[in-house]
Amino acid sequence: MKMRRLTNAMNLRGKRVLVRIDGNVPVKNGRAVDGPHGRIARSAVGINWLLQRGARVIVMTHLGSPRGKRVAAYSIKPIAKRLSSLLGTRVKVTRSVVGGDVEKAVRAMQDGEVLILENVRFDAREEQNAPSFAEALAKLGDLYVNDAFAVSHRAHASVDAITSELPSYAGPLLADELSVLSRLGERSKRPFVLVLGGLKMSTKLPLLLRLLPTLDRVLLGGAIASAFLVAQGQEVGKSAYEKESVALCAKLLKANKDKLLLPIDVVVARSLRKDAHRRVVSVSEIGQSDRIVDIGSKTVSAFVQTLKGARTILWNGPLGYCELQAFCAGTREIARAVGAQTGTATTIVGGGDTLPVIESLKLAETFTLLSTGGGALLQFLSGEPLPGVEALKN
Ligand code: 3PG
Repeated sequence: MKMRRLTNAMNLRGKRVLVRIDGNVPVKNGRAVDGPHGRIARSAVGINWLLQRGARVIVMTHLGSPRGKRVAAYSIKPIAKRLSSLLGTRVKVTRSVVGGDVEKAVRAMQDGEVLILENVRFDAREEQNAPSFAEALAKLGDLYVNDAFAVSHRAHASVDAITSELPSYAGPLLADELSVLSRLGERSKRPFVLVLGGLKMSTKLPLLLRLLPTLDRVLLGGAIASAFLVAQGQEVGKSAYEKESVALCAKLLKANKDKLLLPIDVVVARSLRKDAHRRVVSVSEIGQSDRIVDIGSKTVSAFVQTLKGARTILWNGPLGYCELQAFCAGTREIARAVGAQTGTATTIVGGGDTLPVIESLKLAETFTLLSTGGGALLQFLSGEPLPGVEALKN
């Protein structure tokens, strides 16, 4: 793929470089959950490369979905802390995202220094891809680097509109992920099995629709599976799912009955507390007060059996409520089973919530590719262009 890239020959000393990373990782007790293969750790490599060349690096990222408002729980301070320890230097956080104070902070920077802007999604113009926000960001830099494959499927101002304002380049992480994925995408062998879990149905379902013709089986878990169970007429009690996605799930089920494998049993609890009483029930026995928190053991066995016959496996999204270890057993089993297939199958795994599970199991090295992308990964492999990448093409 031909994109404008950073090269060793570029003179970056004293240049203000705006770098978009995807630091959107889970935050637990004020700490970013990010291991050596995590999104922040992998972005730090490119930032360090720029700092070593004397650039003044201004990092941008989003965290969560604050929907254009300042929400303390989504402050990027935990990301700054993680970056500071990775880079071995203090990464200051600006109070505002753009404006006079931020411009002043940037003017005070020395060569080889780094700072990070507060959550770009605190400004509603980010998700609107607004030129006015892109201009305000562009004032802070001399050039722009996208090193965020994981958010390149979003036509947002710090990913897309900004490329109209500044000379723009692909960072090393973005370039690497795209080059490996392009090669793997072309070589995907059948049977091709997709394991799909997590939330964000409105992003993932249209991509599932696009991917379905190339897939042989889809193993469903997490909140996505709950929406499919509802579409099948099952009771899911208080389980999380997006109601507006049920109609599309029903349509997909009707046309692809044999490809889509839903859980046959699930772990349910009455609350999302780690000490909550858990029961394994068949999907026809879920009560009105129950919440699905994991897939059950019969489902795990059926899914593992299917994975054993696969030649390509793509996995995105936990299959249970992995914020709590107690509800992550099914996801852990599937992680081990996917890793065990590497070699027999090409295994591509990714997503902001999937990476921490894999790291906690020390399985990061067991897959063909561990991508930082979730929705972006699905979109790329479905053949739909990524706006952030298109904007960098020659
Ligand atoms: C992700 O976690 O997939 C990326 O950070 C994109 O986040 P978004 O789905 O909130 O745009």
